[in-house]
Amino acid sequence: MNETNPQKRVTLAELRRASRDGRKIACLTAYDAAFSRLADEAGVDLILVGDTLGMVVQGEQTTTRVSMDDMVYHTRLAAAGRRRALLMADMPFLSFTHPEKALLNAARLIQEGGAEIVKLEAGGDQAAVIEHLSKQGVPVCAHLGLHPQFIHKLGAYRVQGREPAVAERLIRDARTLEEAGAELLLLECVPATLAREITRNAGIPVIGIGAGLDCDGQILVLHDVLGITPGGQPPRFSQNFMTGHDSVHGALHAYVEAVHNSQFPTPDHSF
Ligand code: KIV
Repeated sequence: MNETNPQKRVTLAELRRASRDGRKIACLTAYDAAFSRLADEAGVDLILVGDTLGMVVQGEQTTTRVSMDDMVYHTRLAAAGRRRALLMADMPFLSFTHPEKALLNAARLIQEGGAEIVKLEAGGDQAAVIEHLSKQGVPVCAHLGLHPQFIHKLGAYRVQGREPAVAERLIRDARTLEEAGAELLLLECVPATLAREITRNAGIPVIGIGAGLDCDGQILVLHDVLGITPGGQPPRFSQNFMTGHDSVHGALHAYVEAVHNSQFPTPDHSF
C-alpha cells in the first residue's frame, strides 16, 4: 500500500481504502515473532499465520494435522513480532464445521493468539458460519478456489475454476460469502481471468495467490519467498526473492516492492 508509517497500524478500513484507490496490498505468511517482525519491518501490510505451518514448519505432507492449539501458539508468537501489519490467523481443518464451534475456535485465535481476523477455507455452503462469526464481531476472510485442507478429497493441488461450471460457482460463492459478512476474500490457484472478474465484482478487498495480477493484493508463503520450500519444489506461482539479495530483510523488502508496484506476479506465475 506504500504506507509504511510504523506508528500507523493497518486496519481493515485501510485495506478497503487501498483496494478502492488501486494501491496493491502485500501479504505474507509468518509463524513466529522473528519472521513476523522482519516481514513487518519490510512493509508487509497483512501477516497470515497460515495452516501451511503444518508443511513448512512441522514438516508434514499436508495441512490437515494442524490443531487449534498449534494455530493459537503460532499466532501468539507472530503477534509478538508484529507492529504495523494486520494479523490474520487460519482456522485449521474441521475447526469450523458448525457456527458455534467456529465461534469458540475463532475466539481462541483472537483472545489467546492476538489475531485480528480469521481465515476459513469455505465455500458458499458455509455462509451460515461466516454470518455467525461476523454478527458476533469476528472479522472473516473467506478463502476460495483451491482448498488445501480438502487434499484427501481432491487428490492433488490443482488450479480450480478452469471449467465454466466451477468458475460460475466460484463467482456465486464470492458474492454469497461477501453478503454473509466476509471482510476479505482470498483466491488460491484460479485462472487470472476468473480472479479479475471476481475482484471487479467484489465490494471487499481480494487477495490472490496463484490468481494473477489483477487481485487487490498478493500473498505468498514465507518459505517460498526465501527459497527454503521443504522438498525444494516451490509452486509455480511463487518466487524466490533471495535471488539477487544477500539478506532476509532485502528479499522481503523486494517482495513487498514488487507487489506494491504490480511487478509480481508476472504471467509466468499465473494460470
Ligand atoms: O495457510 C496458508 O498459508 C494459506 C496461504 C497459502 C494463503 O492459506
